[in-house]
Amino acid sequence: MKVLAILYNGYKAAKAEPRLLGTVENELGLRAYLESLGHEYVVTSSKDGPDSDFHKHIADTDILITTPFHPGYLTKDLMDKAKNLKVCVTAGVGSDHVDLNAAVDRKIQVLEVSGSNVVSVAEQVMMSILLLVRNFVPAHEMIERGDWQVSDIARNAFDLEGKVVGTMGAGRIGYRVLQRLQPFNCKELLYYDYNALPASAENTVNARRVEDLKDFVSQCDVVTVNAPLHEGTRGIINKDLLQHFKPGAWLVNTARGAICNAEDVASAVKSGQLRGYAGDVWNVQPAPKDHPWRHMKNPLGGGNGMTPHYSGTTLDAQTRYAEGTKTILQNYFEGKPQDPGNVIVGLGKYESQSYGKR
Ligand code: NAI
Repeated sequence: MKVLAILYNGYKAAKAEPRLLGTVENELGLRAYLESLGHEYVVTSSKDGPDSDFHKHIADTDILITTPFHPGYLTKDLMDKAKNLKVCVTAGVGSDHVDLNAAVDRKIQVLEVSGSNVVSVAEQVMMSILLLVRNFVPAHEMIERGDWQVSDIARNAFDLEGKVVGTMGAGRIGYRVLQRLQPFNCKELLYYDYNALPASAENTVNARRVEDLKDFVSQCDVVTVNAPLHEGTRGIINKDLLQHFKPGAWLVNTARGAICNAEDVASAVKSGQLRGYAGDVWNVQPAPKDHPWRHMKNPLGGGNGMTPHYSGTTLDAQTRYAEGTKTILQNYFEGKPQDPGNVIVGLGKYESQSYGKR
């Protein structure tokens, strides 16, 4: 079989650090395994446009491996070219770069390594909430500049204690965020999700479900987005919804950039309607140099906690999602059942309830 992997270039770092498994150089550690079974393994970072390796090789690929960090967008049109394609494996979590509805129609299975990096992201969410609420980035920039003016930072720095924090999406990551918020003595923890948590799980983290999205955001000092990108979440955080946020709320999005309207969020930060926005996911990746999220600042000069997409690709996470990808391939080659939690699209139907209420 032909296995095609679309990964990001790691260059010098990947040569020096073999645990950077999700790179073109280190190939998810799969080459020896796949070749020992007689499979062809093509690895590339070239993914966009008709002349890219992705578009050329997809025509006779049997198994496609992609990562959300350097997404190879598998559109309906590309699927029509991919006559042999049977399985798409996401090395990581989040398969929105695959047209899932088209995969259902064509009986192409979509699997991901569920859970592989959810702790990594939950930790990044905690870091992002704290750096926004405590006004960390401008404080650090001041130090690097050689300045020292405490009042300029403290005028916009707060405690997380006593604030209302809500997660949009209370699945693996959202729930772990609620768990990690426990010792901060927040005023209240809320969640918005069409799948209610079991009562025992709700009680464990003392979180209250709010069923209406506008009502939910209007009660939160901090909103963290932990839902997948699908037709029900694309662009859902836009000018209209932002009007229902508490004035000066903080927004953290490590789920997918396209859940937010980029211009609307940037305007809300610039006007101070949002006190800050942090996250690592962008509506276009790599983000163009002039993307509004790179330089947006609130009226007091802070409120930007953006990073490149790396929260789910720590070295610890890479070990887990590389191993998980291999297990999925082994199961497939040996005709064994897949872990049901890893199956997003099975043969001709959605197996996951996370990509829209069906
Ligand atoms: P999960 O499938 O365990 O949980 C997702 C939850 O979102 C489910 O409970 C689902 O019901 C809920 N949901 C779906 N649509 C919703 C909507 N319209 N409103 C509210 N809730 C909704 O997924 P998990 O593991 O928690 O990951 C969530 C997302 O985080 C992934 O799909 C991915 O996009 C993103 N992610 C980002 C990473 C990064 O490196 N930045 C790494 C891993 C995941």
